[in-house]
Order: sequence, then C-alpha cells, then structure tokens
Amino acid sequence: MKRIGVMTSGGDAPGMNAAIRAVVRAGLASNVEVYGIRQAYAGLLAGDFELLTSREVSGILQRGGTILQTARNDEFKTAQGQKKALRRLNERGIEGIVVIGGDGSLRGALALENLGIPVVGVPASIDNDIYGTDMSIGVDTALNTILEAIDRLRDTATSHNRCFLIEVMGRNCGYLALMGAILGGAEMVIIPEHQVPMEQVARDLEHAYTRGKTHAIAVIAEGAPYKITELEDYLKQHPVGFEIRLTILGHTQRGGGPSAFDRLLATRMGVTAVEWLIAGTHGVMVARQGREQVPVSLTDATTNMRTISEEYMQMAHMLSR
Ligand code: ADP
Ligand code: F6P
Repeated sequence: MKRIGVMTSGGDAPGMNAAIRAVVRAGLASNVEVYGIRQAYAGLLAGDFELLTSREVSGILQRGGTILQTARNDEFKTAQGQKKALRRLNERGIEGIVVIGGDGSLRGALALENLGIPVVGVPASIDNDIYGTDMSIGVDTALNTILEAIDRLRDTATSHNRCFLIEVMGRNCGYLALMGAILGGAEMVIIPEHQVPMEQVARDLEHAYTRGKTHAIAVIAEGAPYKITELEDYLKQHPVGFEIRLTILGHTQRGGGPSAFDRLLATRMGVTAVEWLIAGTHGVMVARQGREQVPVSLTDATTNMRTISEEYMQMAHMLSR
C-alpha cells in the first residue's frame, strides 16, 4: 500500500487532530503517502484531497476541532453517491482510508469497505455511544468540560439555595450525563436508557430540600424522554423548595484542547489504524478494550447498541442521598 486517505467525520471531537497527526506520521514512517480528505464524505464526493506532509500536522496535537474539518452529507448515504466516492478514490490512486468519527461515520466506512476500498475506523465522538470500544476519542475531554461546568454551577447554586437543571449532549446515549452526574456529585440524573417520570424528579428534589441540602443538581441527557424546558415548566408548577435555573451546556462540550487521555488514545489509535491497513487488516474499527487495542468488525460496531452499566446507574442513585 503506497497511498492512503484520512478523514474526520460526524461531530468533531477533541483529539481528532492528534489522530490525524498520528496517521500521517505513521504513514510517512512506512513510506506511505497520506492524503487528507476535507469535510468528510462531502469532500470525498467533491474530490477535495490534500497531500499531508509532516509539517502540515505540526503543532496540532493539542488543538481541539479538526484541521480537516467535518461535515454531514446525505448524498454519500445513497448507492449512487458511494459509487461516485469510489471513483474519486480511484482517480487519486488511494488504496485505503482511515475514517475517524462516530457511529454514523463508521456506517459510511463500512459502505466503502463493501465497495472494495480497505478501511480502518477510529472511534471519535464525545457521546461514547460506539459499540465495542470502552472509550471513543473526545469523551474524556468532554466529560472534564462537563465537570468543570457542574462544579461552577454548584458554587452559585449553593449560594442561592437553587436547583440547576443541566443539559448535556450525548444524542441518544446517556453515558456523558450519567458519568457527569456521578463525578459531579449530582442529586439526579435523567438519561434515555432509564425512565424517571417528572413527578419522581420533583419528589426527589423536594426530598433533597427538606433534608437540608443547600443546592441540587439534576443532569439531563439531551436524549432524555422529556425536554429540559418541559421539566423546568413542570418544576415551576410543582415547587420543590429550591428556586429552579436551567443551563444547556451545548457545543461548549465539543470544543477545547484534548486531555492527556484523549491525546494518548488518539495517538495510539491513529498509529494502529495505519499499521493494520498496511498489514491487510481492514473492515474493522480500532477498539480500546481494557488496556489493549483490538479490531472490532465495522459490522459489529455499527449494528450493536452500546448499553449503560446498571452498576453505574445504581451508584449514581446511592451516592446522591
Ligand atoms: P457521527 O459519525 O458523529 O455519528 P452522523 O451520524 O451524522 O455522525 O454521520 C456522519 C456522516 O456519516 C453522515 O452525514 C453521512 O455522510 C455518513 N453516514 C451516516 N450513516 C451512513 C450510512 N448508513 N451509510 C453511509 N453513510 C452514512
Ligand atoms: O455526536 C456528537 C454530538 O455532539 C451529539 O452529542 C449531539 O447530539 C450532536 O452531535 C449535535 O450535532 P450538531 O453539531 O450538528 O448540532
């Protein structure tokens, strides 16, 4: 293999740049040219490729976002779009691709693999919703951002005897909310995988108030069964003792430089992806399981659901008393 491509796709995640750098430099170390594909599948369809030298990936290890940019693209989901993409790759003599992205991006990667282009996926999404890997790139940094926000909000909540409802990202997955709640010492957590009726949220918050807590924090996943504003309205109509305030952390969770953990995860995964492509291992995602990196087939990674640990759920509940 003499020429490969690399792209970042789906929502950006801190550590994507560290992964790009690792892919490029691991490729060059094996005399493989690496082309950056800009704006994910949209750039692939447009033939927006750029040869990346070692200098182009200099000074990006610590930067958030992605120098290759990312995009969401519907044309690539069609058979016609995928054929066009294959044509673009053949025109440039690109023999393999590293796709760095979330579960949707990995479904796209599988489509390319099925067309005959060797692909290795690298899981990168703050949501940590990808099956088969303990951690995806960006999760640790996003979680640290969430914790910093919760810590700050608790300071002001305590000063005013208030309850903060805090919405965190995660699409349909409650991982960030659950871990944010446990590690941020929240009183409540509401995630898509675990239904908590609004009446119960009100009862638990009222209980926290009557037991003498000076604040309450409720972490709500964006994919929760009801919107944070609906919960706010409900709690205003059914007072629990605390004044209610609402904060949506939004895209602040996606920005910022990657943590040490994410830099290491991205660097290892980027190097491994290139080694596997060159060795002829493809159609797989680089997965972290324990301390090891193992191949998980793209089919398994994209057809199975990652579940939430019941043990963590119980821990969140027990420690919030
Ligand atoms: P993420 O990768 O973060 O989960 P998306 O789900 O938005 O983000 O997917 C990113 C892109 O991957 C989509 O815009 C689309 O171009 C491509 N993609 C998603 N699902 C498929 C699919 N089933 N087949 C082909 N491409 C897909
Ligand atoms: O998948 C990452 C993610 O940040 C999700 O947590 C969130 O639901 C989504 O992307 C937001 O997407 P956009 O940036 O298109 O608003």
